Amino acid sequence: MPRYALITGASSGIGLALAEALARRGRSLILVARQRDALESIACELTQRFGVEVLFRVCDLGEPLQLSGLLHELEQGERQIDLLVNNAGLGTSGPFLEQDWGRERQLIEVNILALSRLCHALGNAMALQGGGQILNVASVAGFQPGAWMSNYYASKAYVLHFSEGLREELKSRGIKVSVLCPGPTRTAFFRGAQMDVSRLEGSKLMMGAEELALLTVKALEKNRAIIIPGWRNRLLALSPRLAPRWLVRKLVAAINKAFAGR
Ligand SMILES: NC(=O)c1ccc[n+]([C@@H]2O[C@H](COP(=O)([O-])OP(=O)(O)OC[C@H]3O[C@@H](n4cnc5c(N)ncnc54)[C@H](OP(=O)(O)O)[C@@H]3O)[C@@H](O)[C@H]2O)c1
Repeated sequence: MPRYALITGASSGIGLALAEALARRGRSLILVARQRDALESIACELTQRFGVEVLFRVCDLGEPLQLSGLLHELEQGERQIDLLVNNAGLGTSGPFLEQDWGRERQLIEVNILALSRLCHALGNAMALQGGGQILNVASVAGFQPGAWMSNYYASKAYVLHFSEGLREELKSRGIKVSVLCPGPTRTAFFRGAQMDVSRLEGSKLMMGAEELALLTVKALEKNRAIIIPGWRNRLLALSPRLAPRWLVRKLVAAINKAFAGR
């Protein structure tokens, strides 16, 4: 039976770079996102360049019924998924009370609920198959609370802790679980979150998605538990542990407020 890596949010940014890095290593792929045209052309390009099979499924992960449809199709199909990359995600910035609730709800649906549901459904399928691997995409944001992006930071703390817990639970079922915690990465994420990060552009703090994907795939092959690409990002993740919690809250609030243009 053919084996595939399923990547959510593969139509742009980190997901696209991970898809390319995995295709380069000869992996057959199933790409999931909302933008049909982007998925279609990426699938076509990766197949041509790397000679691997690349399928795609259009699915809004913020819509539980669409996710049910996708899971049903995967369950009925012949294809075995032995690597799940839960990468799709979105951010919001600004005062929580002034945000559109629909967008905040969507953030929770995609960043938390869809990710957990995919781990549950495909984790069970992998356990029946005798094993597999899961990579969940959190963020260095997951290591501390982040005012002015409170929902986003909290969602990534969930992904980080959930993944670490699952890693221990699923070991005995032959499933390896890793969590990726990128720092600032050059993608469309900030535009979507309505953040102005122009002052970070060109700075060494901002990593390219291709470099990130390369480091991630190498770490994944070594079955690293928490993947934090680059020493600058490792420092970002470690620093909240070295300072008192009140100071961390205040510093992160000031930084996020500035990037949210407040
Ligand atoms: N960029 C950073 O600095 C950074 C740092 C740390 C962590 N991250 C995390 O990295 C992940 C990827 O983000 P990115 O930076 O690559 O941003 P991006 O370029 O905006 O990519 C986001 C991806 O998620 C997909 N997506 C969003 N909402 C979706 C939905 N409702 N249903 C299905 N797919 C959806 C998008 O596809 P469609 O629009 O086609 O649906 C897109 O492929 C996210 O989880 C993000 O939180 C990013």
